[in-house]
Amino acid sequence: MSFNIDSDIIDINNRLLDNGISFENKTILVTGGAGFLGSWVCDVLIKQRAKCICLDNYSSGLNKNVFHLFDEKNFRYINHDISEPIYFGLSNHPYGICIGDIRKIDIVMHMASRASPFEFKDYPISILKSNTLGTMNALGIAKAHNALFFYTSTSEVYGNPPDDMIPTPETYFGHVNPVGPRSCYDESKRAGEAFIKAYELQHNLRTKIVRIFNTSGPRIRYGPEFGRVVPNFIHQAINDMDITVFGDGSQTRSFIYVVDEIEGILKMVHNDNAIGEVINIGNEKEYTILKLAKIIIELTNSNSKIVFKGLPIDDPKRRSPDLTKAKKILNWKPTTPLKEGLKKTIEWFKDQEKEKIDE
Ligand SMILES: NC(=O)c1ccc[n+]([C@@H]2O[C@H](COP(=O)([O-])OP(=O)(O)OC[C@H]3O[C@@H](n4cnc5c(N)ncnc54)[C@H](O)[C@@H]3O)[C@@H](O)[C@H]2O)c1
Repeated sequence: MSFNIDSDIIDINNRLLDNGISFENKTILVTGGAGFLGSWVCDVLIKQRAKCICLDNYSSGLNKNVFHLFDEKNFRYINHDISEPIYFGLSNHPYGICIGDIRKIDIVMHMASRASPFEFKDYPISILKSNTLGTMNALGIAKAHNALFFYTSTSEVYGNPPDDMIPTPETYFGHVNPVGPRSCYDESKRAGEAFIKAYELQHNLRTKIVRIFNTSGPRIRYGPEFGRVVPNFIHQAINDMDITVFGDGSQTRSFIYVVDEIEGILKMVHNDNAIGEVINIGNEKEYTILKLAKIIIELTNSNSKIVFKGLPIDDPKRRSPDLTKAKKILNWKPTTPLKEGLKKTIEWFKDQEKEKIDE
């Protein structure tokens, strides 16, 4: 069996249309559009007949995630680092690049940022810049076009919450180490959120912040350099390699399949009641990392053994979103069972492995 992403894109589109949500004829700038989540957004927007501008520098994204869209008349790819200024609808500007022929942008979705824990070690400055300077540049575009601004923040802004803050509501301020190995990501996302609130306050910009919790599915990057738990375990399991669990594996995470996440994100982008709001989108159900490893071994029928390694510094003990706001404002909740999402992700990974062998 091999995995076809198209049926999932159609599923998301149907879920949106069933709720009267359409982005037809809207011009939407998606920074980070060649990445895992960004490319799903681009696919759905093109299916919805929106005009989609994908801005990316392929730092952690891949050309093959969006290449199939290059012939679409409503799709445009711009290779650019969002940490550097860029302007739309101007023929020239003293600083930065100008894209003269795009005169009106309705929505800016700022998703560009490396997001994998192992990248925090190798690319901390680029991550900091994407979420601070990059957020400022993306906000500047939204301001110039009076566009809606949407930002993909993260559960990492909560850091390591105490047990009585699990599941974590949006009102929790966070418990974050500003000088730790994860700070380039946690703190820059927090700074990004502060930039957004400043533009909202000072320029009356319409803004929305989603805090995304651990999402996986087809197109997520995998391999030892990306260090996200679901793709790592699947990669190790389908290759019968040892599965590396950090600590004793009792730390928890909550996992959401990409289809549910993108549905939640686009429902939020569309909903006027979400203007000015911060909303968690993820799955409330917690699993220990050890349990996840065992489920993946079972689903892949793998001979892998579980081995335990030291816990990384500042690794959060528990992670689970309080979804009260998402349910109330967006009428959204995740519906894909963990094993169903994992099975699809595993099939897709197996296809990737086959492609590698055929190359
Ligand atoms: N996947 C998750 O579980 C998760 C969880 C929380 C938050 N997020 C956020 O969602 C967004 C997308 O994450 P993802 O999982 O798709 O990661 P990803 O690494 O697959 O995608 C990020 C994309 O941004 C691009 N990019 C990075 N820096 C850039 C820059 N300076 N200029 C232009 N393009 C740049 C990359 O090339 C890539 O295509 C990120 O902002 C991330 O912080 C994701």
